[in-house]
Amino acid sequence: MTANEDKTRLGVASAREGEEPETLINKAINALDLEGKIRLLTGASGFTLHEEPAINLAEVVFSDGPTGVRGPIFTGGRKACLLPNATLVAQHWDTEVAAQVGALLAEEAASQHVHVVLGPTVNLHRTALSGRLYESFSEDPLLTGALATAYVKGLQDRGIAATVKHFVANEVETDRKTVNAVVDERTLREVYLLPFEMAVAGANPWTIMAAYNRVNGVPATDNAELISGVLKEEWGYDGLVMSDWYATESTAESANSGLDLTMPGPEGPWGDKLVAAVRRGEVAETTIDEHVRRFLRLAGRVGAFGAHRQWPREVLAPDDLQRRTKLKKLAAGGMTVLVNRESTLPLTDVGTVAVIGRHARETVAQGAGSAQVRPPHVVSIEDGIKQALGADRVIVVDGVEVRTDPLVADLALLRDPETGQPGMRVTTSDAHGALIESRHVSWTEVSTRESPWLESAATIELKAELAVEKETRLQVGVRGRGDWTFSVPDHYERVRLDRVDDAGEVLRLPYRTVSMALQPGATLTAVTDAQPGHRILALAARVAPKPPAVAIAAAARAAREADIAVVVVGLTPEQESEEVDKITLALPGEQDAMVSAVAAAAKRTVVVVNAATPVLMPWLDQVDAVLWAGLPGQEAGAAVAAALTGEVEPAGRLVTTFPAREGDAPTWSPIPVNGEMRYDEGIAVGYRGWQTEPLFWFGHGLGYTEWSYADAEVIADDTIRSVRVEVANVGSRAGREVVQVYWRPENEPVRLIGWSGVCLEPGQKALVEVPVEHWTQRRWHDGGWQPLPLTGEVLLARGLGDVRLTMPAAG
Ligand code: BGC
Repeated sequence: MTANEDKTRLGVASAREGEEPETLINKAINALDLEGKIRLLTGASGFTLHEEPAINLAEVVFSDGPTGVRGPIFTGGRKACLLPNATLVAQHWDTEVAAQVGALLAEEAASQHVHVVLGPTVNLHRTALSGRLYESFSEDPLLTGALATAYVKGLQDRGIAATVKHFVANEVETDRKTVNAVVDERTLREVYLLPFEMAVAGANPWTIMAAYNRVNGVPATDNAELISGVLKEEWGYDGLVMSDWYATESTAESANSGLDLTMPGPEGPWGDKLVAAVRRGEVAETTIDEHVRRFLRLAGRVGAFGAHRQWPREVLAPDDLQRRTKLKKLAAGGMTVLVNRESTLPLTDVGTVAVIGRHARETVAQGAGSAQVRPPHVVSIEDGIKQALGADRVIVVDGVEVRTDPLVADLALLRDPETGQPGMRVTTSDAHGALIESRHVSWTEVSTRESPWLESAATIELKAELAVEKETRLQVGVRGRGDWTFSVPDHYERVRLDRVDDAGEVLRLPYRTVSMALQPGATLTAVTDAQPGHRILALAARVAPKPPAVAIAAAARAAREADIAVVVVGLTPEQESEEVDKITLALPGEQDAMVSAVAAAAKRTVVVVNAATPVLMPWLDQVDAVLWAGLPGQEAGAAVAAALTGEVEPAGRLVTTFPAREGDAPTWSPIPVNGEMRYDEGIAVGYRGWQTEPLFWFGHGLGYTEWSYADAEVIADDTIRSVRVEVANVGSRAGREVVQVYWRPENEPVRLIGWSGVCLEPGQKALVEVPVEHWTQRRWHDGGWQPLPLTGEVLLARGLGDVRLTMPAAG
C-alpha cells in the first residue's frame, strides 16, 4: 500500500481538509490568555496533552516508541505489536526497511488513537557497556541518521508524528539525569548531532526530545545554544521540542532556551511558576506564543487541531497473520551470520537437533525500559525450531540460569484465585481493614500511578494461585518498594523493600523471594501499606534455578546424542535496560561454560546469540557457526528458525564493533568521573578509533553466499559523489550484499561514507553505484563547515576486517 492510500486509511486526509495552519494558529494564540497558553505547555498526564475546546484543540496522545506502540499506559497496558529491536532493524542496512518499520508503527499508533510515537532513538553506541544501546541503531552517525530519516518519513507520511530522541550526547545511563557530557564542538557537530541534523534536513520530524543529561555544563532542556541556536535557527527546525520525562528542572531558563513542552504532567516546573516568571518579565510572552505555535503546529499536523482526524475503524490485531509474517521477515533478515565454518548453516537435511539454553525456552524479545510493549505472544526459539523442523527431531534442554532478579512473573504461572483467569486478584482495604474494592488484574504487576483506584487504599493485597501441573520447585516472592507481608503455604515473612540505589522507581524494582517446592494451586499472598509516590507492585514466580553443573551436564548429554546442537545464549533485560549500564560484556551466569561443554560433546555446534549488543565469545574457536539474533520481537522463534534453515537469508551486517576482550575498545567505561562523561576520543567513535583487532568489525556479516568485487571507480569532483563497482554473487545461494564504502582521509579517522544493498541470484553480477553524500565529507572548523580535502583512500569493505578494494579518493 502506498503512503497516500495509507493516509486515507489512517484518517489523515480528513485532518487536512480546509487546513490553513498558520492563520488558524495565530487566531488560537490570540484567543487564549497567558494561563490558557501556558497550560498547554505541560502534559495533562503521563502521555497526554491538554485539550482546549475554545480553540478546537483535541487531546494529543503520546506513546513510546521505538519498537512498538505501547500506548499511554506504562504497566500492563493493551497488547501491541512488538517489533525487532533497533539494532536488528539497523542490521539490514536498508532505509527501505526503516521506512517499513515507521509505516507499521503508524498503523499501530492509529489503531490505538496515538498521535505521537516517541522514537526513533538516535544516540550512538559509544561504549558497548551502555545499557540502552538496544534502543538505538548503531555506532555510526551516518548509518544512524539515514535510518532515522527513513523511519521518521515512514511514520509522518501517514500522519503520525515521530520524536527523534534524545537531544543530545545521551550515550550512557549511569547518573543519566545529572551526568555532564563534555564534548568538543567538532565532535558534537560531526558525530552526535549528525543523526539529528540528517533527520531534520531529510524528514522534518514533528517533535524532538531533549535529553536528561547536561551538555558541556548546561542541562539539555535548558540548552539555548543547542535548542534555539543550532536546532531551530541554524537548521531551521519548525517542530516542537519536548523534555524527556521529568528532565526539566528550571522554569525561566528552560522556557527561554527553546524547549516548547515539559513532560509529563499535570505537575511540573512550568504552570503557575512560568506564569509568574512571565509576569516578572523573566520570560517574554512572545516566547510563550512561540512555544504554543509549535505545539499547535504539531497538533495540526497530527489531526488534533483545525480539522480533526477520524481514526480508522478497521485495524489489524497485533497477532494478525499479516503482521506476524512481516515481523518475522523483519527480524530474520537483520540477523547476522558471524561465523559459518564449512557451511554449517543453513541447516538442511539435519537429523536430530538438541536445542539447548534458557533463551531457547524464555526467548528475550525486547529490552527493558520505556520502550517495552506488551506483545500478544512471544514465539520462543524452542517453538520456532520445533515448528520448522518437526517436534519429533528436536530435544530441548533448559540450560543454566541467566538471571539474578526474578522478573515479573510469567502470566502462565499465576491465576486469579476467584476467576481462575491468568493474572492475579488485587484487593484494597481502608485503614479499618474494611474492603474497598477487589479486582481481577490480567497481569502480574500493577502501577499505583496508572491505577487510580489503588490510591485511596490503606492496604493493597496481591493474591494468586500457582498454575503448575505438578509439585514444582519455584522461586516466589514480591517486587516493588514498600513494607510487605508475604505468604505461601509453610512460609510467612515481613519484609521492607527499599528503592534500588540510583535506579528509578519504575525500571528496577527491589525484590524478595524464597525457593521452595510448591503444589499446584498453592496461594501466594502479598500485602503492602499505602506509601507516597509512584510504585509498581508485583508478584514474582519462576521455576527455581538449578545448580550450573547439573544444567551443564544435562546439556552436554543431549548434545552428544543429537546430530547437531543449537545452543541459545544471550543477555537479559537485566543487562539491556534503560537506567542501568553493564559492568561486563561477558554472558551472564555460566553460559560460556555451557557452550564449551556442548561444543566438546556435540558433532556440530551452532550458537544463537539472543542479545542486541556485544558480548564476549571465549568459545568462538570451538563452535561451527554463530548466528547473531538480536532481540527479535514477538515472532522471535519463528524468525530464528527461518534464519537457521535459510527460509529467510540472515543478511544482516553488524552495526557496532564487538570488542574481543573486556576493556579492549577505544571507549569503555560508562561511569561518569566527578559527574562528567568526557568524549575524549573525539570523532574517532567505534570502528573509527579501534586500535586492536576486534572480535568482529562494524559492517561484518557473512550471509549465506559469497561475493566478489571488481572494477571499482570513484566518481568525484571536489567531493566524492559516488563509487561504482561490479559485484558478483559467486556462491551457491541467492543473497543480499551490502556494498560498504569507507573513506580514510589523510590524518583523519576512517569513516563510512555510503552503502547500497544489492540482491543477486547465484552467478549473477551487477554494477552497483553507491551514492555518497556530503555528511561525512566535511569538517567542523573554527565555527563553520569546511569540505575535507580529497586525500587518502576509499575502501570497499565488508567491514574493516575484510577490505576488498582500495582506491585513491581523488578518483
Ligand atoms: C525515556 C524516554 C521515554 C520517556 C517516556 C524516559 O525515561 O528516556 O525515551 O520516551 O521516558 O516514557
